[in-house]
Amino acid sequence: MVQAGDALARRRFLGFLAASPLAGALFPGGLGSGEAQAADAAATSITAAEQAINVFDLQAVAERTMRPAHLGYLQTGVLDDRTVAANRDGFHKYGFRARRLVDVGTVDLSIELFGQTWASPVALAPVSSQRAFHQDAERPSARAAQRRGALQTISTLTNVSFETLIDDRQAPLWFQLYPTNDPKTARRLVERADAAGAGAIVLTVDLLAGGMRRETQAALARRDAGNCAQCHDRTAGFPDYLRRKAMFDGLDLSRTTALGDPRLTWDYVRQVRSWTKKPVLVKGIMSGQDAEQALTHGADGIVVSNHGGRAEESLVGAIDVLPEVVAAVRKRAPILIDGGFRRGSDVFKALGLGATAVCIGRPYIWGLSAYGQLGVETAMRLIDEELTSAMRQAGVGRVSRISGADVVKL
Ligand SMILES: Cc1cc2nc3c(=O)[nH]c(=O)nc-3n(C[C@H](O)[C@H](O)[C@H](O)COP(=O)(O)O)c2cc1C
Repeated sequence: MVQAGDALARRRFLGFLAASPLAGALFPGGLGSGEAQAADAAATSITAAEQAINVFDLQAVAERTMRPAHLGYLQTGVLDDRTVAANRDGFHKYGFRARRLVDVGTVDLSIELFGQTWASPVALAPVSSQRAFHQDAERPSARAAQRRGALQTISTLTNVSFETLIDDRQAPLWFQLYPTNDPKTARRLVERADAAGAGAIVLTVDLLAGGMRRETQAALARRDAGNCAQCHDRTAGFPDYLRRKAMFDGLDLSRTTALGDPRLTWDYVRQVRSWTKKPVLVKGIMSGQDAEQALTHGADGIVVSNHGGRAEESLVGAIDVLPEVVAAVRKRAPILIDGGFRRGSDVFKALGLGATAVCIGRPYIWGLSAYGQLGVETAMRLIDEELTSAMRQAGVGRVSRISGADVVKL
């Protein structure tokens, strides 16, 4: 089972220690107050969103309350989940430079992307099939993004239609495209999202040939004794699976047999570019060479991502390749990044290394699963608060002023 990250592991350990008869012998003076609080949180778990001190608190609730198959779907990486871990480990290779006596009375988190202003550099990544996590599917997430003024990209594979979500968000959402193996289907999806008011199209390229095996997902599904057939008809074929996704309503799916096509090459980016006047971003970039290719073939932006460790078991974290992508892009296009961001200080480091914005996936779904819209808002608020305090400690009052000079390679 994938572990959430160091903080959670540490907290569980502290919880174990606090509850153990060894605690008095090991810590005669008692645990320090922060540690004691963490230990207490692990031992008792929170009972309301407001009690969460970080996103791992939301994860703990989600893990306790979700059915095993859905938890597996959320947490899984591929093979041994080592690229999930690599995404987290990458942040420990960088620190930031603390600066004193700078006026940081006001901290401005806002960013501009393609002429539009967003309240925070932390955006919601596309996550499919959110009915697995909440009865209202993607709607609480869109409403949370609205409340926080945040950018959100909506998956191709939503349970609720893009139009409904734009109504909930009351602002342009970005639309993520799985191209499928049929260009006609892809074009229809782009045209529909465009007509609904999409702010940009995000073409995901890391699963075109299918991902590597998701073993954690398979293992937890095996342990789920629930009646999966109620919602998942395993006897129906792929077109039937797609037909249950809102964006495929009314499409001729007779030739659509997969979410991607392993034969696609960079020319496909140009093709998607020709279907819309909106900005097109390519998501799933993990090298400087591919960032260059994407821009050469008409992309307006890059999303550095390994799909949260769900595509390839490369053992390379997203933050590890950010510097080479920044060097290849040479400020010609915005660079977004996702994969393992759990702390505001993680976000700070990516912005310092040259990212324009950062997306989170699992953390907001932990919030969604635990507390619905309020849980998503809580995940976003906690990370924004941590980013604000990191900026204050680094003596930087505006996101646009965070630079390479603020980041220290350890
Ligand atoms: C349950 C789940 C479903 C996802 N669905 C999609 C999707 O439909 N399209 C897509 O481009 N990425 C999808 N992703 C990947 C996310 O957009 C993002 O790249 C990843 O979650 C970031 O890593 P993090 O979860 O560590 O923050 C999904 C991720 C998860 C965890």
